Amino acid sequence: MVNKKTYCLNKDGFCFLPKIFSNKESLLAREALWDIINGKYETGRKPENRFWQPGDDPYSIIKIDKPHLCNQVVWNLITNKDFGSHLAQNTNAKSVQVWHSQVVWKPHSKNKKGNAGWHRDSQYWPFWTYDGLFTAWIALSNVSNKSGPVRFLRGSNHWKNIDGMDFFNQNINDQNKIIKKHHKNQKIVDALLKIGEISIHTSQTYHSSIGNKEKNPRIGMVVHFCTDKAKRIPLEGENSNYLDQLKDHSIAPIIYKR
Ligand SMILES: [Fe+2]
Repeated sequence: MVNKKTYCLNKDGFCFLPKIFSNKESLLAREALWDIINGKYETGRKPENRFWQPGDDPYSIIKIDKPHLCNQVVWNLITNKDFGSHLAQNTNAKSVQVWHSQVVWKPHSKNKKGNAGWHRDSQYWPFWTYDGLFTAWIALSNVSNKSGPVRFLRGSNHWKNIDGMDFFNQNINDQNKIIKKHHKNQKIVDALLKIGEISIHTSQTYHSSIGNKEKNPRIGMVVHFCTDKAKRIPLEGENSNYLDQLKDHSIAPIIYKR
């Protein structure tokens, strides 16, 4: 079993929070997310993006962007005050704003369909600098080592970029070989979480996950947040306006300020 207190966000690139959400809150959020997955939007607002539609392969990962827009229970989960102050405390922040969220619902996996390749979140965020950008992962099911937990490369937040790392590359064995060439003694830490528990990782921490071999789905609510240290990078063309939504707090709520 992982001794969760031994990991430090700055040094290791990830850390674990004590349980913040009760089992009841977590189960309610899970029911709300299941409605969203099935196209039922209680608030009348659509998610930003869907990568799975009802009728698609039930063994592949179900991913939907910004489900907090679609259901008040999910909104309440990610804007919880206690959650916000824990994020601020651990990142040493004066403010915490949620700028993106995702539900990642991973059913029992077949073949490599449950794999998410090694990556840094910052690879996909051309409009942000690296500092002050983090991801919180709220477990909405118990996450065992057989369920394909998120796993972190300890200290990889201090590494140089490694070519060939990609969330969408499901061939993790090939990626492992590349990593070994650069870092022989790397240590992989599984984020084993009970329902309602949370991990945080920095935008520069390499992480991945493999298939879920448990019968039940592995369910995570992913919360991408920025602190007062985050800075936008001006872009041309595609994505240039993406972060303008930071001004709209009904999309990007500020969940802590001091
Ligand atoms: Fe990620």
